[in-house]
Amino acid sequence: MIVLGIESSCDETACAVVRDGLVVLSNVVASQNDLHAEYGGVVPEIASRAHVEHLTPVVRAALREAGVTLAEIGAVAVGHRPGLIGCLLVGVAAAKALAWSLGVPLVGVDHVHAHLYAGLLTNRDGQGRDDREESHADSPVALPALGLVVSGGHTSIYVVGGRDGSLLDIERLGATIDDAMGEAYDKAAAILGLGFPGGPRVDALACEAGADERAFDLPISRLGPGSLDFSYSGLKTALLYAAHGGPAVPEAERPVLTDQRRRDLAASFQRAAVAAITLKLGRAVEHLRERGVDVRTLLAGGGVTANSRLRTELATFAAGHGLGLVIPPMALCVDNAAMIAGLGSVMLDAGHRDGLDLAAVPTTAC
Ligand code: KG4
Ligand code: ZN
Repeated sequence: MIVLGIESSCDETACAVVRDGLVVLSNVVASQNDLHAEYGGVVPEIASRAHVEHLTPVVRAALREAGVTLAEIGAVAVGHRPGLIGCLLVGVAAAKALAWSLGVPLVGVDHVHAHLYAGLLTNRDGQGRDDREESHADSPVALPALGLVVSGGHTSIYVVGGRDGSLLDIERLGATIDDAMGEAYDKAAAILGLGFPGGPRVDALACEAGADERAFDLPISRLGPGSLDFSYSGLKTALLYAAHGGPAVPEAERPVLTDQRRRDLAASFQRAAVAAITLKLGRAVEHLRERGVDVRTLLAGGGVTANSRLRTELATFAAGHGLGLVIPPMALCVDNAAMIAGLGSVMLDAGHRDGLDLAAVPTTAC
C-alpha cells in the first residue's frame, strides 16, 4: 500500500510518500528556520501561519517526486501529537480533507514514536539501513528493542515489543524531567553566541581541531541510582557559568569568550551531554534484563541523532552490548513525514483507523 504522510508539529512542513511501510518514494520538508532565526526560537503563531502557506505546495511536491497520483494513495497518516497545537491543527485538517476526498483511511500517528521508526525506512534502492543483512520474519527489526528519542522537545527511553513483540508495543521507561537534549544544545548555542538553530553549530564547533573536551569539567546528570530519567538544566547552567562566570562574578571580571574557549566549552558540553545518554541506556538494559526482557536492538531517532559524537557513541554502546543499531540517515533524523507514513502503515496494517473527529493533542501518548 502507498501511504501519504503529513507532518506539521513544529517548524517543519513535511509530506512524504511511503510504499509498504518501508520504502520512501519521496520526502519533502519545507523548513521555517529563516522565519524564526531573528527570535532565537520557534514562534508558534508564525509557525502555524507558515504551515498554512507551505502545506499544499509541499504535498504537490511529494506526489510529483514520488511519481504517484492522488488516485494511487491508499491511506493518509498524520502526526497529530505531540506538538504546538496551532501547528498540529493545520496538518490534521489537511490530512482529514485529503482522506475524506479520496475516500481512503486516515490514521493519526504519535510524532515521538515515529522518530523511533525513521531508522527502519529505506529509499527506492534499498539504501538507508546499516543492518540490512539481518532479516526478520514478522518485523523489519529484531525485537524487543531499546528505543531512544532525542529531539528538541523529547529525551526518552523506551522498550519496543517488550510485552507482545510488536513494533506498536511502545512502553516509556524514562524521560527528561526538565530540558530536552536538543533544547539544551540550542541553549548552549545561544550561550556561546552561535545563533539558531544551535545543535548542529555546537556539534561542528566541538569537532574543530584543537577543541579540548576535558578543558571544563561539566556535570553528567545521573539523578537517582536507578533512574532512567534525564536532566539537562544543570548542564546548561554549568555551561553558562563556565562561559560567562557565575552570578557573583562582577561584570568587569567576566571571562572573555575567545574562539579557543568557545571550542573547548562546546567540546566539554558535548562530552557531558552524550555521556548522560549512554549512562542511562546502560541502566535501561540492566533494568530490562532484571524484568526478564533481553533487548536485541537499539532503535534511535530524533534530531539529535544527527550529532556526530552521539552517533559514534551509540555505535560503540550497541556493539558493546551485542545489540543491532538502527539509526536514521541524516535526512530522517530531523522532523520529516516519511517516519509518520512509515509508522502509520504499521498501524493501518494492525487495523488502526481514525475518523474525521481525530484530535490534535499537545502531548505524547507515552
Ligand atoms: O526531531 P527534531 O527535528 O524536532 C523535534 O521533534 O524537536 O529535533 C530538533 C533538535 C533541535 O534542538 C536541534 O538543535 C537538534 O535537534 N539537532 C542537533 C543536531 N542536529 C539537530 N543537536 C545536536 N547536534 C546535532 N548535530
Ligand atoms: Zn521531532
